Amino acid sequence: MIDRPAASNDPKVPSFYGEAALAGWKGVIDAVHAAGGKMGPQLWHVGSVPNFFGEWTPPGTVESPSGLVAPGKPRGESMSEEAIADTIAAFGRAAGNAKRLGFDTVELHGAHGYLIDQFFWAGTNLRTDRFGGATVKERSRFAVEVVKSVRAAVGPDFPVILRLSQWKQQDYAVRLADTPDAMADWLVPLVEAGVDVLHCSQRRFWEPEFPEIDGPDGLNFAGWAKKLTRAATISVGSVGLSGDLIASFGGEISKPTSLDNLLRRLDREEFDLIAVGRALLGDPRWVTKVRDGDREGLKDFSPAVLGELV
Ligand SMILES: Cc1cc2nc3c(=O)[nH]c(=O)nc-3n(C[C@H](O)[C@H](O)[C@H](O)COP(=O)(O)O)c2cc1C
Repeated sequence: MIDRPAASNDPKVPSFYGEAALAGWKGVIDAVHAAGGKMGPQLWHVGSVPNFFGEWTPPGTVESPSGLVAPGKPRGESMSEEAIADTIAAFGRAAGNAKRLGFDTVELHGAHGYLIDQFFWAGTNLRTDRFGGATVKERSRFAVEVVKSVRAAVGPDFPVILRLSQWKQQDYAVRLADTPDAMADWLVPLVEAGVDVLHCSQRRFWEPEFPEIDGPDGLNFAGWAKKLTRAATISVGSVGLSGDLIASFGGEISKPTSLDNLLRRLDREEFDLIAVGRALLGDPRWVTKVRDGDREGLKDFSPAVLGELV
């Protein structure tokens, strides 16, 4: 969480500001490096999205672009220009601290209906100032300024990742960009502002983004993002598992599945990296098993494992 009074909707999600928290993070990255790993924090401001499990509310006033959490659904206050400027600065400070502590990268959470995404989304951004507008390009100005603030704080050579999604937790069917032109309007300014890597969140990585253009086996979100911006991209979504994230949150058990489709897409250089969520949360040996061809050893993903340290 960045340093804003209502950045968080869950007291269990750690902060990335304040001396004590940053000292803790220093221990984390040193331990990861000692084990040969690399790591970056994902910086959050949840906007007006409420707590996932209950009633917890943050100490500060809940804030969002236009006082909405979804179209026609009020929550929180519309942010003043001053609140916006302070939030942009807070993202920059957090990124600068990540670099200073020795992290290898930083990722900005611009996806899933949280604050940055609430600015992108016409349904939650009704502003008439320079942070709003009829096009996704205009509504990207907040994110562009966040990225510029982050880039200024970390300098030219530190990798900056931005996570984006068409879908929102408030509405899985929403799309910010319905055409490649609209997607270019959305993404190119972000890359020009200083993003190195676009992390393109899908629930199922094999779903084509614009099948009306390149067919049912066409490029996915990360594929189009790479093609349109020439930035490096990360894909994600149900790698190695039969059911998607939302099904898991609903309690469904996912079975291990083939990686052939993923390998084919990596071979054709559709995107540069793949992210793996639940398969790894459920089985820290997943990568080793895949590398060694131990298909029999791959486990089902049961949502119950989220309650355990595995
Ligand atoms: C328990 C849990 C926590 C998650 N937390 C985050 C998060 O903090 N930030 C984020 O961008 N995505 C988060 N996600 C979504 C994952 O990053 C990933 O996009 C999603 O699980 C789809 O990948 P998968 O099908 O491989 O699990 C979370 C998912 C799960 C299951």
